[in-house]
Amino acid sequence: MATDQNKEILNVESKARATAGRISYFDMVVESAKGAIVTDANGREYYDLLASASAINVGHCHPKVVSAVKEQADKLLLYTPAYFSNVKTAELYSRLAAITPGNFAKKVALGNSGSDANDAMIKFARAYTGRQYIVSYTGAYHGSTYGAMSVSGVSLNMTRKMGPMVPGVVKVPYPDHIQRHKGESDHDYSVRMFQLFKLPFDTYLPADETAMVLIEPIQGDGGIVKPPQEYMDMVYQFTRENGIVFAVDEVNQGLGRTGKMWSIDHFGIEPDLMAIGKSVASGLPLSAVVGRAEMIDALQSPGNAYTTAGNPVAAATALATLDVIEEENLVQRSKDMGERAEAFFKRCQQDFSFIGAVRMYGFNGGVDIVDENGNPDPDATNRILYRMYELGAIMISLRGNTLRFQPPLVMTDDEWHHASAIILQAFVDEKDGMIKEPDAAGHIGWS
Ligand SMILES: Cc1ncc(COP(=O)(O)O)c(C=O)c1O
Repeated sequence: MATDQNKEILNVESKARATAGRISYFDMVVESAKGAIVTDANGREYYDLLASASAINVGHCHPKVVSAVKEQADKLLLYTPAYFSNVKTAELYSRLAAITPGNFAKKVALGNSGSDANDAMIKFARAYTGRQYIVSYTGAYHGSTYGAMSVSGVSLNMTRKMGPMVPGVVKVPYPDHIQRHKGESDHDYSVRMFQLFKLPFDTYLPADETAMVLIEPIQGDGGIVKPPQEYMDMVYQFTRENGIVFAVDEVNQGLGRTGKMWSIDHFGIEPDLMAIGKSVASGLPLSAVVGRAEMIDALQSPGNAYTTAGNPVAAATALATLDVIEEENLVQRSKDMGERAEAFFKRCQQDFSFIGAVRMYGFNGGVDIVDENGNPDPDATNRILYRMYELGAIMISLRGNTLRFQPPLVMTDDEWHHASAIILQAFVDEKDGMIKEPDAAGHIGWS
């Protein structure tokens, strides 16, 4: 019998790998990937329904992106932009300023990860306002550095044993599907959630000492959730009235993922600061904060300098990635494919009682798996994910019982046809009680 290369590699790896850096799902080792197809170490192919956690919106190893990497790698891997610029990095600043919302003077700070971009927004907002407090949301994932962890609110393991967190952070409830009462109108929900947003300000948090409100306009790891327009308008208006920086994290939901270039575009709001990462350089380490010039200039050098931030290979890759998004109309593609996917999941919702809410914004969605009482069913979620994996599709969960659906935006019609057939088969097998418990049942996903 042929040896299982995946397991062999993982056995070796596990002897030296830190546990904290990986969330367990399947015993799979990625060998290569192209477009929307991933190949494992055994040579088995899978439809990618995760896009490397929304970091590969333009598809794996896009030829234009790969040739930009190769061309730049031949010329210059790094001269640190912390001291001297280079041709590609110099070009990237204005490109990012041009493609982000806001008809005002903007500047850009480059980083290495979505996490450090969120840290940087804390720094810029504090420096600009001279105020200390930061308001962020429950259910948020902003990253794994101390600042980003401190403003996150999605997993106990992100604070456990590591406190104290960065001080001055106040969390308010995100208007998500869990907080919402059955049948509550958008208006009633917005008013109620805005009251909860205001509660700290009414009781212990001086608005005039608050530097920034940080929000994911569509929350990613919180379950792919979009607040009502009225709620966002109220929060934004509150920041205007109180001189508070309105900052958005687009690391997960930006760059066409939601059927618009940025998730904040769904609300017609121009943020003061925006964090970008993941797909911007097709997965090479690069992040950015784009914001009002006077806010970015509030910090003096070297208040936010990193040796490798905006390194030339990542910068060249980002420029190529942004070209691909434009040339291949991927924002529109995301919208169109999202409509098809939504129709598919809504049809499934009719046929399978364990499918709860379906939230789809672009080629990007959360599909809740529930028990007969409508409560979250993480075991069924794990079984379905595992079955998809057996059948040849990669998907993971959010919050234990939400299917996280984020395929590369370049997935072809034919690939979607096959991938959706796998999803359907997994639903049928779950309904029929046919799915063998995966070895990792109960241990996969976030905790
Ligand atoms: C919304 C959001 N912000 C920030 C981050 C952190 O990005 P990184 O893992 O590149 O540090 C993530 C990662 O999942 C994210 O989803």
